[in-house]
Order: sequence, then structure tokens, then C-alpha cells
Amino acid sequence: MSIPKQLQMKGIRKSFSGVPALRGVDFTVSGGEVHALLGANGAGKSTLMKILSGAYTQEEGSIVIDEAPAHIGSPGDAKRLGIHCVYQEVDTALVAELSVAENVMMDRISAQGSGMWVNWGKLEKEAEATLAKLGAAIPVRKKAGELSLAEKQLVLIARLLTEQAKYVIFDEPTAPLSLEEAERLFRVIDQLKKDGIGIVFITHRLPEVFRICDRITVMRDGEGVMTERAADITAQDVVHAMLGRVFEEEYPKADAAIGESLLHVEGVSRGHRVRNVSFEARSGEIVAIVGLVGAGKTELSRLLFGADQADSGSITVQGKQVRVSDPADAIKGGIALVPEERRTQGILVDESVQHNLSLPLLKVFSRFGFISGKKESNNAQAVIGKLGIKTSSPLLKTGFLSGGNQQKVSIGKWLSTEAAVYLFDEPTKGVDIGAKSDIFRIIGGLAAQGKAIVYLTCEFTEAIGIADRIIVMCDGELVKQFDRGEATQQQLLLYASGGGKEEQA
Ligand SMILES: Nc1ncnc2c1ncn2[C@@H]1O[C@H](COP(=O)(O)OP(=O)(O)OP(=O)(O)O)[C@@H](O)[C@H]1O
Ligand SMILES: [Mg+2]
Repeated sequence: MSIPKQLQMKGIRKSFSGVPALRGVDFTVSGGEVHALLGANGAGKSTLMKILSGAYTQEEGSIVIDEAPAHIGSPGDAKRLGIHCVYQEVDTALVAELSVAENVMMDRISAQGSGMWVNWGKLEKEAEATLAKLGAAIPVRKKAGELSLAEKQLVLIARLLTEQAKYVIFDEPTAPLSLEEAERLFRVIDQLKKDGIGIVFITHRLPEVFRICDRITVMRDGEGVMTERAADITAQDVVHAMLGRVFEEEYPKADAAIGESLLHVEGVSRGHRVRNVSFEARSGEIVAIVGLVGAGKTELSRLLFGADQADSGSITVQGKQVRVSDPADAIKGGIALVPEERRTQGILVDESVQHNLSLPLLKVFSRFGFISGKKESNNAQAVIGKLGIKTSSPLLKTGFLSGGNQQKVSIGKWLSTEAAVYLFDEPTKGVDIGAKSDIFRIIGGLAAQGKAIVYLTCEFTEAIGIADRIIVMCDGELVKQFDRGEATQQQLLLYASGGGKEEQA
């Protein structure tokens, strides 16, 4: 295998229905380099990389690989040139019904063509060996659909390792990962880098950029606005270039009077993932439930919302016990959930932004089953403005929005409902630093309106920033509670990782 030298994109332009997404972008990545591609939600990062990986074609501009002009008209072309992409939407890149081994070896299997004899034993061994190289102990016969997001991602990386990848694009790979999982991924990336592979790394988490990247390019509104060596600049320089203004990360917590208890959860359990969970949340209060990835936060939120059934326990909203056998019951009972896996659970990707934003409102807007189009569109306009959702039109298919803007839709659709209790499961995942503050402000605003907020997160700084009370979850149990101002990051980490338990009577 010859060592790759450099991939250049020059003057790339692309628009969708006449709306420019890329306005003449230059970008280069060299073999053995990790190049960060940064920018606010909707800046054009994924679009630029989709052109490189053959999912879209540019209207203008050229691509040169190792000094030879490259024509990339399809994903197949890109792969033949050694370009591979681990997409933002990992879940759509795997075939859920197929085994891990089949997913890892998929390109190999399809390259052999149908009708050829496939040596499954050998394929499974090779898939296992590749996963082992990544330090991933995933049973190769398991169905891909049963894997966690972190595992799915490792399967995708293993897949491209079985090809002769020269350039690898990671589009927000760490968003669904715990810190430990992210560290493991960084070690994998270091290895790819040593092998001379050129890596493009997209993320909204700035600290990791300085941990693993050699160069940084910042995009804003479809243009490249800065390319520098990471060693020569600071996080503040990056944020400034991204947003075009000076910015201090802040946690606005509007003053809210804390009133009566709105949500009372008593002894809720499901298997060993959620064990005997009891807590309450009051009007005007933001309760953060923090824990490491896998602590059971998402499972808990799904039980409270009726997406899964609890084995035991009770849920009371405003003094009335609600039986949540499905989400419709929860909504009727006054509970709203912004789920973590937005693409599969939070939004309908094939429906318009406007329609998604009015889904929970259908009851309010519809008379005799008929939705007033005007009300729907007024509501959509208002929410789009409030959350700064970047869309060329309220009628655009939600699947065409950038990842972070889809997340905003998944939050926005609940804003005008009558829910008393709001559950947010990792709402800031994949949103840019400016939009994060918008989300905190909106959550603070809901509290100020007298709602009870349950904020589930593995980002301890966020919990410390916005919560009135922090409850630590570990291994399916609530293990410790702190009032506002009491907890430090170190303490939260200690309890979240199972330490400090003895202290508690
Ligand atoms: N298929 C499409 N149809 C219409 N518009 C699109 C399509 N794909 C992307 N866009 C638009 O192009 C712009 C850039 O989107 P892109 O996904 O590249 O942003 P991004 O920088 O990756 O943002 P994020 O950080 O949120 O993932 C957005 O306004 C988006 O709505
Ligand atoms: Mg993106």
C-alpha cells in the first residue's frame, strides 16, 4: 500500500433548492494528520464531507488526491479511492437484522457478489480479529440492532479497517460516547494516524479537538473562515471564528419560584437497569439526574414516558397517579420527553419541520380531526425563531436539516404543549456551543413558567450549571443527592462511578 500524501478540496460549491450550503470551500487533509472540521450547526461540515464520500456531488470545485484529479460521483467511487466515512447517523449505516460479523465484513461480502460461496467461519474470525484490534469485545453473532450506539460505531470503524482506507472521515463520533469510550476511540484514531491514514474529525466538544487534532479548520455559513495548527490557537479563537463573535460559555438559570411537587416517582424498577427509583420534582425546579453512559438514565426516562413498561412502582403527576402504558398516556398525563436518540425516536425525518413541531399540539390545533394550517405554520415560525433552527423553509423535510438542527426540532416540538413535567435526555448532544446556551435559556424559561424539569445528562458541568438539585445515578440506582452549589465535578464522578457509596447511610 502506498502511503497517501494529500487530499485537496478546492472551491467546493453546493446548494439545495437554490439555497447555498457551501460557498467555495477549500480544505486539505494529509496522510498521518488529524484535521478537525468545526463550525456551528448548519455551517456545512457534514455536507462538505458528504461530497468527499460521494453521497452528494458538488456543483463547482475540484478534488485532487495525491496530485491526481479525482472524480467522485458515488460512494463506490469514494471507497475505491480509499475514502471512508463514519457518519453522524451511525444507526442508519448498519443493517439491524444482520449480525455484527456480517456488518463488519459487509463490503467484502458484497464485493464477492451474490451466488458466491461465503466462508462464514472465516469471516467471523476476521471480524473478531478486527474488533479485537480496536479493543472492542462485541460478540460477532449478535444482531447489529441490539448494540449500543458506541458499539455500532466500533462496528463501522472495524468495517473500514477491513478495507484499505487512506482517508477516514469521522462525523461527530464522540457525541454518543462516554468519556472512557471516547478515550478508546482516540487511541484507535492515534493508531490510524500512525498507519499514515489522513483523518477528518468533526465534533462540537472543543477540549477533545486539542487532545487529538493537528490542524483545525473552522466553517461558518458555508465558508471556510480559518485553518490553523492546533498548537497555535486557543479554544476561544475557535469559538470566535465559529460564531463570528466573542462568547463566554454560560449557564443562564432564570429565577424561578419553587413550588408544589409536580412529579412524584415511587419505587420504579425494571429488571436490573432501573432499580427502585424514587424522587420528586417541583414546580419551577430543574432536577438533574447525572450518571455515566449506561447508568440507566435513558431507561429511566423511557419508563417515565411510557416508552417501556416498569415492573413496579408508581408515577404521580400533580397529585394524580398516571398509568403510563404508552407515550400517549404520558402526554395525556402531562409528561413530555425529549429523547436521546432523536433520529429514531424524537422526530419524523420524512415529515416537514413544521409538521414535526406541531405533532404534540395536534390535539390543541385540530377540530374534529382537522388541523388548522395557519395555526400550525404560526407555531412553527415562532419555535424556529426561538430556537434559531436553521432551515431554508418550515416545509423542508426534517431529515434534510443538519444534525444539531434536528435536535433543536426534537426539543422545539414540546415547547408549546401543556405538559407539567419535561424530561430532557442529553439534550445538548451534537448542538453547537451557541445553541447550547439557547437550550439552557429555554429550559430555564420553562422552569420559570412553573414546569418541573428533569434533566438527564452525563455532562456534569451542565448539571452543576443549571440544576437546582442534582441526583447521581449509578448502576440503575439513585445513590446521592446534592443541592444547588453543593456538588463539585469530582464528587459527582466519584458517586457516578460507584465510589463513596459506603458513606451514605
Ligand atoms: N439534502 C438536503 N436538502 C436540503 N438542505 C440540506 C440538505 N443537506 C443539507 N442541507 C442544508 O445544508 C446546510 C448545512 O448542513 P450540514 O448538515 O452540512 O451542517 P453541519 O455543519 O454538519 O451542522 P451540524 O453541526 O448541526 O451537524 C443546512 O442548512 C442544511 O439544512
Ligand atoms: Mg453535521
